[in-house]
This record gives sequence, structure tokens and C-alpha cells, in this order.
Amino acid sequence: MNTNEVALVTGANKGIGREIARQLAALGMTVYLGARDEARGKTAAAELEGDVRFVQLDVTDVGSVRAAVETIEADSGRLDVLVNNAGIALEWGVDAVDVSADLLRAEYEVNVFGVVTVTSACVPLLRRSPNGRIVNMSSSLGSLTLLSDFESSQSKNQLLPYSSSKAALNALTVLYAAALKADGIKVNAATPGLVPTDINEGAPISRGTRTVADGAVAPVYLATLPPDGPTGVSRGPGVDDSIPW
Ligand SMILES: NC(=O)c1ccc[n+]([C@@H]2O[C@H](COP(=O)([O-])OP(=O)(O)OC[C@H]3O[C@@H](n4cnc5c(N)ncnc54)[C@H](OP(=O)(O)O)[C@@H]3O)[C@@H](O)[C@H]2O)c1
Repeated sequence: MNTNEVALVTGANKGIGREIARQLAALGMTVYLGARDEARGKTAAAELEGDVRFVQLDVTDVGSVRAAVETIEADSGRLDVLVNNAGIALEWGVDAVDVSADLLRAEYEVNVFGVVTVTSACVPLLRRSPNGRIVNMSSSLGSLTLLSDFESSQSKNQLLPYSSSKAALNALTVLYAAALKADGIKVNAATPGLVPTDINEGAPISRGTRTVADGAVAPVYLATLPPDGPTGVSRGPGVDDSIPW
């Protein structure tokens, strides 16, 4: 059983998720580093300092998610922080009108349905925390306010599966925030801002030079909110920034 705080980060073997796991461990949390691939996950966990524990977790596999939660319950007894970080983008080079339902479904499996699977499995453990926090990794590409401005870069990107999946994630965020308010569990959306990682390797745009540490600012801020912190809000890329829904 843990006296320090306990966190689970999904998709944490690389990219921004790995950096979030690193920073939460550096703050003294016990961090479960979720990764679908055992070798990649174990390697990442071994590279990070602090109490970082690999847990096999494929967000599209209910059995894998349940087993991961059982491990956390047996070893730590509760969860204080869940970061729904795992995400994919598959549509580079595919025009919005050519997107098939199968492509959309594949992306939603991770970015939307996976978040539901992991969140519902983790809520019983988060209810045991005096200050439960859920952070959903969103994007300005999921902002309906920005997408409905046809001059915005978000609209011009025309990433139909990714943008609509992150818009759905934003909806899940505020709905879960309302549902879990009485339990004192905060649910917020973090926007990391554009960071060159594997997810946008195929993007036909300049990916800039921001680092994974820059991308981790908002999610780590939301993962470490005090008990009287906000719920149902969007924050990022900086802690004082807020992307409109
Ligand atoms: N980078 C950006 O500019 C940016 C901007 C806005 C939002 N975001 C969001 O930030 C989050 C992290 O993205 P990133 O940039 O760090 O991307 P990344 O480097 O590609 O990392 C994505 C992570 O998700 C994991 N993943 C994919 N499918 C999974 C599954 N079925 N189950 C469990 N894990 C799975 C990947 O694991 P594998 O190594 O096994 O594939 C990897 O660990 C995503 O939600 C993304 O949408 C990123």
C-alpha cells in the first residue's frame, strides 16, 4: 500500500506520456507507466528515475485494462491520478471526404473508446483517493470553436478522425467531470500544443521545435491540482492558457 500519491499514465513508453510519467515520478508519486508493448514499456520504466512501474496496458483491450487495474489495486490500493494520454492519428494524406468508417473506428478505438474503457475501470480506485484527478490529453484540433472558424489552421488541417475524436474526448471530459464531481474527482482536458513526436511524423506541416517538456506543462499542472482545483476545464499549452471547447 502506498502513502505517496499513485498515478497511471497510458501510452507512456514514449513521447509526451513518457515525459509526464518522468515528471510525476520526480514529484514523488508512484507512477504506473502504461504501455501496450512489454519491451518498450519496460525499457522506458527502467530509464526513468523514482518509483516508476511498468504495467502492460493496451487501451483497446478490456482484458489488458482490467489486469492493469488489478495490479495497481493489489500493489498500491488506490489511484490518485489517471492521465489518459495514449493517442493515435492515422489519416495523414487522406482527404476528409475519403475517410472511411473503418479508419474513423480504428482511431476512435484508442482516442475515444479506449479512454472510456480505462476511465470506467479506474474510477473505483480513484474514489479511494482524497483528491482524484483525471487528465485527458486533448488538442486544439478538437476545439469546435476553432474548427468552425474556416480560416483557422485547425479547420484547414482537415483531420476528420483525429479532430472529431478529440472533440468527442472533450465531451467525455465535461460529462465525466459532472458525473464525478460528487466524488471529488476532477476531470480536465490538457492541450500540450504542437510537439514533434511520432504521432505527427507524417504531418505535411512544420512541426516546430517545442519539446516534450513543453507539452507536459498543462497535463502535469492538471495532474497535480489541489483539492479545491477546477474540474471540467480545458488548460494548455501553458497553465494560464485555455483552448475553447
Ligand atoms: N504531439 C503533439 O503535437 C500533440 C498535440 C496535441 C495533442 N497530443 C496528444 O498527446 C498524446 C500523446 O501524444 P504524443 O505526441 O506523445 O504521441 P506519441 O509519441 O506517438 O505517443 C503515443 C503513445 O500512445 C501509445 N498508444 C498508441 N496506441 C495505444 C494503445 N492501443 N494502447 C496503449 N497505448 C497506445 C503509443 O504506444 P506505442 O509506442 O506502442 O505505439 C505511445 O506510447 C496523444 O493523446 C495526442 O493525441 C499530441
